[in-house]
Amino acid sequence: MNGPDAPTTSGPVVADDMFLSDRVSERRQRWLQETEGLVDSPIESPMLQPWEVYDHDLFDLEMLRVFARSWVWLGDTEDLREPGDYLTGQIGYQPVIVIRQTDGSVKGFLNNCRHRAASVAEGPSGHCGRTLTCPYHNWAYSIDGSLVGIPDEPRMYPDGFPKEQYGLVPIRIEVAWNKLVFGCLSQQAPDFRAWIAPLADRYDRYGIERFTRFHRDLDETYAINWKVFAENSNDDYHVRFVHRRLNHTRQNLNTLVRFEGRTCSGYKPHQLDVEDITGGRTDLPEEELKGHYADYIYPNLTPLPWPTMLILVRADPIAPDRTRLVSRIYGLDIPLEEQERQLEVLELTNAEDTTMVTELMKNLRSPFYRVGPPSLWEGRSAHVMKLVRDDLATPLARNEFQASATSEKE
Ligand code: FES
Ligand SMILES: [Fe+2]
Repeated sequence: MNGPDAPTTSGPVVADDMFLSDRVSERRQRWLQETEGLVDSPIESPMLQPWEVYDHDLFDLEMLRVFARSWVWLGDTEDLREPGDYLTGQIGYQPVIVIRQTDGSVKGFLNNCRHRAASVAEGPSGHCGRTLTCPYHNWAYSIDGSLVGIPDEPRMYPDGFPKEQYGLVPIRIEVAWNKLVFGCLSQQAPDFRAWIAPLADRYDRYGIERFTRFHRDLDETYAINWKVFAENSNDDYHVRFVHRRLNHTRQNLNTLVRFEGRTCSGYKPHQLDVEDITGGRTDLPEEELKGHYADYIYPNLTPLPWPTMLILVRADPIAPDRTRLVSRIYGLDIPLEEQERQLEVLELTNAEDTTMVTELMKNLRSPFYRVGPPSLWEGRSAHVMKLVRDDLATPLARNEFQASATSEKE
């Protein structure tokens, strides 16, 4: 990034992350030079490199250049039935809140009090009535985000206080298929529909609005890097070996691997004589009735749609070697016992993946390790790694967060 071609953008955020990206590339050069010669790789690989795993500066840069410009899944409308119902979430490092408004619309804000850094709402979801009151010094915000109360205002701010300028900071929210809530910090990112364009028509067909949430989520934190998990989620090659208990239900060698834009998809046809997964549905095309998909919505969501079920697994990066996995399943009239059975299967599948990936994490500490070439069925993983690297190489636009009709991407 140094030298005459360095971007000329300015401002505190951009300057700081240029500094970060310089440090990251310098560290990579040093790592490569000093460990050269032990392992030769005859074929170049686009897969995740060991120096991309434990570097905290790189991780900080990802929170800005990947997450701050992406649409991230935050929850669903089951937590947003009445005005004042809210759910909270995280976009990279940034906590956010989504609240149902009195007019029925849904608004999103940064979940930071404008006074100090406190979250104005705690817990994954809840109901706040007409106002959100910050727990630290009790500033109060109306559910539309405006600051409506400062305790002891004349005594604390004797010169007056411009309350109208200190409302909660709004973010973009999309309620997709009248059910799934996504948020985006950037004003320059494409709209959600364009973000998921290659999947959009198929998802329109599932009727997700009619699906309801299973009675519990899975929520665990692992000693893994979010990109190692992303690579595993998009790897159609390991499935037959790591999840071999499922082999009798699948036609594994007929998997179809697709990737385009910011989405990926691995189609997994089932052994139809072993189980009928249609649930009696006939309103979907044949491919969709005869198998399920392991999809990916960049940067961190793995949706697995079945004809009667939608599994979502989101990887929240916490630190270079810590990732929280939140899994939620939705289904069409699925009885409680069957919900529990499906949750246990998912728990097992997640455990098979996270155990393998945790092992990889240990080995990725080695500066001598060099990455092997991707097979055809790791094409999705390579695609996601390219998206991450492209974002990392592109500074945020100077107007990235400005909601203005005249703004342009730089
Ligand atoms: S941090 Fe919210 S009122 Fe002080
Ligand atoms: Fe897996």
